Amino acid sequence: MKALIVDDDSTLRLTVRSVLESKGFQVLEAEDGQMAVDMVQKIPDIGIAILDVNMPRLSGIDALSKIKEINPSIFCIVATAYSNMNDAIRAIRCGAFDYLQKPVEPERLLKLLSNATEASNMVVEASYTSPQLQFDEGRAIVGTSGSLKKVFDVMYRLAKVDTSVLIRGESGTGKELVARALHHNSHRKNGPFVAVNCAAIPESLIESELFGHEKGAFTGADKRKIGKFQMAEGGTIFLDEIGDISPATQVKLLRVLQEKCITLVGSNVETKIDVRIVAATHKPLEKMVDENQFRSDLFFRLNVLPIVLPPLRDRKEDIPALTNYLIKKFNKLHKRKIEGVEHSAINALVQYSWPGNIRELENTMERAFIMESTAHICLSSLPDNIVNVTEADLLNF
Ligand SMILES: Nc1ncnc2c1ncn2[C@@H]1O[C@H](COP(=O)(O)OP(=O)(O)OP(=O)(O)O)[C@@H](O)[C@H]1O
Ligand SMILES: [Mg+2]
Repeated sequence: MKALIVDDDSTLRLTVRSVLESKGFQVLEAEDGQMAVDMVQKIPDIGIAILDVNMPRLSGIDALSKIKEINPSIFCIVATAYSNMNDAIRAIRCGAFDYLQKPVEPERLLKLLSNATEASNMVVEASYTSPQLQFDEGRAIVGTSGSLKKVFDVMYRLAKVDTSVLIRGESGTGKELVARALHHNSHRKNGPFVAVNCAAIPESLIESELFGHEKGAFTGADKRKIGKFQMAEGGTIFLDEIGDISPATQVKLLRVLQEKCITLVGSNVETKIDVRIVAATHKPLEKMVDENQFRSDLFFRLNVLPIVLPPLRDRKEDIPALTNYLIKKFNKLHKRKIEGVEHSAINALVQYSWPGNIRELENTMERAFIMESTAHICLSSLPDNIVNVTEADLLNF
């Protein structure tokens, strides 16, 4: 890889050159910002640039902005004077990958170089979909982290059997996505997939929604109605937010699981059904069992082999791949041609803790698409609360 050293002090260039050459970089030198910009314009395959701040003709920060405009994939590292944190912050804002304090310590430089190389490998393309699982058009479960691979493994085993499944995970971690993938990879894939959000249905209606009702079963029941279970016949029913159903409905569900039949509200005839139950919750069901809010027999029946989706903050290595995936998706949706994410913006995305998980990342990227006018998502298109993490971390450094 080619690396460009930009400094007006030739002794300093020499120090940095020896570190870079020891790592096998092919080194180029520029004496000021303008010369660096001219070189980037002529030489297409520079991978890294290390820039001093105070230089004649064009400062390091101004050169950085121009370099990123010409070739956004160059990783820029800015060397700042020890006391000048403002320069570091400005540099990061202009798209620097990171900053170094002067005098340059070879060890810190080596660390930054290895970070930059690692990041450039991640940004290339890291989208992983399990070789064993099939997905519907336009849907994928993206990620290569160890914890997600474990999920793929359990999913693969569960897809081929017909047992009920409980999917657990915080809000926005992909529970519904996984439920659909289970259905799609099972022998039921040509049958219906019926999703029911248990938390959204009023308690008084939930039984009739799930099991249906006979004509005249209650005031207002002027027709016989088919419930979601019968609609899902031959397929999968997805009971989302199962932690929100009342104890009375829990009893009925347990019976469905045990007997594989339902009874319409207002009837005493049992109807056989052939439906696989996939349930999901973000609630601590064990605790709810302890507090008698959730039936232990139903819990154990559902929780035989749970799928636990890790929060995004515990698998940050998936963020670059997810971001690339979302860029492709939103390019299609918004008819844009965004090419990627600036390294400083990727840094910010990786440092943020994502309490809303992938759904929040998705919303953030869509907002950035609307804000962004260049071909790359920059730091300035990200919301303040995400950008500020980087600045705070910088100042604590
Ligand atoms: N690994 C992933 N790869 C790609 N997209 C994902 C992934 N995980 C989640 N998503 C996307 O993130 C969004 C949220 O996922 P989903 O609705 O499945 O989460 P959830 O756990 O059901 O959330 P909630 O608890 O808020 O209902 C969806 O648009 C989904 O497609
Ligand atoms: Mg959901």
